[in-house]
Amino acid sequence: MNILVVGGGGREHAIIKSLKKNKRVHKIYALPGNGGIAADAECCPVKANDVQGIVSFAQSHKVDFAVVAPDDPLVLGCVDELEALGIPCFGPRKNAAIIEGSKVFSKDLMKKYGIPTAESRAFTDADEAIAYLKNGSFPAVIKADGLALGKGVIIAQTEEEGVRAVRDIMCDKVFGASGNSILIEEFLTGPEVSVLSFTDGKTVIPMVSSMDHKRAHDNDEGLNTGGMGTVAPNPYYTQAIAKECMEKIFLPTVNGMRAEGRTFQGCLYFGLMLTPKGPKVIEYNCRFGDPETQVVLPLLESDLLDIMIAVHEGTLTSDMVKFRNGAACCVVLASEGYPQTYRTGYEISLPVPQENEYVYIAGAKAEGEKLVTAGGRVLGAVAAAETLQAAVNGAYALAHKIRFENAYMRKDIGKRALACARED
Ligand code: AMP
Ligand code: GLY
Repeated sequence: MNILVVGGGGREHAIIKSLKKNKRVHKIYALPGNGGIAADAECCPVKANDVQGIVSFAQSHKVDFAVVAPDDPLVLGCVDELEALGIPCFGPRKNAAIIEGSKVFSKDLMKKYGIPTAESRAFTDADEAIAYLKNGSFPAVIKADGLALGKGVIIAQTEEEGVRAVRDIMCDKVFGASGNSILIEEFLTGPEVSVLSFTDGKTVIPMVSSMDHKRAHDNDEGLNTGGMGTVAPNPYYTQAIAKECMEKIFLPTVNGMRAEGRTFQGCLYFGLMLTPKGPKVIEYNCRFGDPETQVVLPLLESDLLDIMIAVHEGTLTSDMVKFRNGAACCVVLASEGYPQTYRTGYEISLPVPQENEYVYIAGAKAEGEKLVTAGGRVLGAVAAAETLQAAVNGAYALAHKIRFENAYMRKDIGKRALACARED
C-alpha cells in the first residue's frame, strides 16, 4: 500500500515509524514531512494546510490510504476532499473536526449531552463580555472560539487582565477570525490528563493516558509552548477514574456527535482536568496530540495501520487495540529561546537509538548530508521501559547523547508523575 501522512512534526514522525511496522506498507509519503522524517518516508514540499495541493498529490501518486494528522487540514475538510476522490482516510470529516475547530460548538455539545466541563458563557460582542467580567470572579479563563496555534486560552487573574484579553481577541483580532466569538469560563483546578482515543463513531477505545508539560521551564514556569515533554501512563488517571470518564465523557461525546449527524472517526483527544468535583473536559482535539503521540505509540502493541483502517471502515473492536505494560517518557530538545526568538541552522548529531529508544524529529532540515535545526522544538528523545522511573532515566540518557548548539530541555519531565506514583 502507498500511504500518505499529512503533517511534518514529531507526532507525524512517530505515526510514520509505527505505520512502517506493517508489512503491507510499500511506500509512505509525508507532506511536508521534515529533514528527519526523510529517513523514514518520502517528503514532498506541500504544506499541511494546502488542501488542494494535498488532494492533487494524492491523486497523482496513487495513494491507497491517507492519515491527516494536524488540526488545520482536518478543520478545513481535507478528509472530505480526499474521500470524495475515493481515497480512504484516517481522520474526522470537517463536520466532526469542528469539535476542536470551535470551542463554542464543543461547549454547546457538552451542555446538551450533560458532559462535565467548566461553566461558561459565549459572547460575540466585546462590550457584553466586558460587562460580564465586571461581575465575575477571578481567575477567569478566556478562550478564542477557533484555532489559535494553541495560544487562544488566556487565564486572567484580574478584571483588568480579562478586559485586556477580550479587547485583544475580539477587537484587535490577535488570533484573526478565531476571535469573532469567545468563551469566558470558570477556572478549574486539579491535575491534567490527556487521553487519546480511537473511535469509529460508535466504539471508543482509549489509548494509554499521558501527561503533557506545556510550560517552557522547570516547575511549570515560563511561557506556554507546544509541549516540552510527556510521560505515559499518567499516574493520576486511576482505573476508577478511567471507568468514570468512559461513562460520563467518552461515550456521551461519541454518541452525541453521532446523534448530531457529525459521526467522529479518527483520533479523539480528551484534555481532562481531575477536579475535586470529578473529571471535567478542558478541551477536545480532533487529532493525535503532540508530544503525547510520541509516548503513546511506542507502547502500542497492536498494528496501527490495521486500527486506522478499522476506524475508517467502522469495524473497530476493543480486542484490536492492545498496549504493553510499562511506561514511556519524551524529553523535547528545543532551540534556546523557544517559544520566543531563537536561532536555527545548527548541525544535529544523533546517536543510533537502541531497543526501546526513539528519536522523533520535529524541526530539522537536511543540508547536504547534514541534519540541521530548523524550528523551536527540534526533536523528542523517547524511551520506553518497565517503570516510569526507568523510562524517564532512559529518555534523559538518550537526550544527553544528542548534540546541537543552543539545545535546551526541561530537566524535570516526569517529576510530578513520579511524585504522584510514589504517593500511591
Ligand atoms: P491549550 O492547550 O492552549 O488549549 O491550553 C489550555 C490550557 O489552559 C490547559 O492545558 C489548561 O492548563 C488551561 N485551561 C484551559 N481551560 C481551563 C479552565 N477552565 N480552568 C483552568 N485551566 C484551564
Ligand atoms: N499536546 C497538546 C496538543 O497536541 O494540543
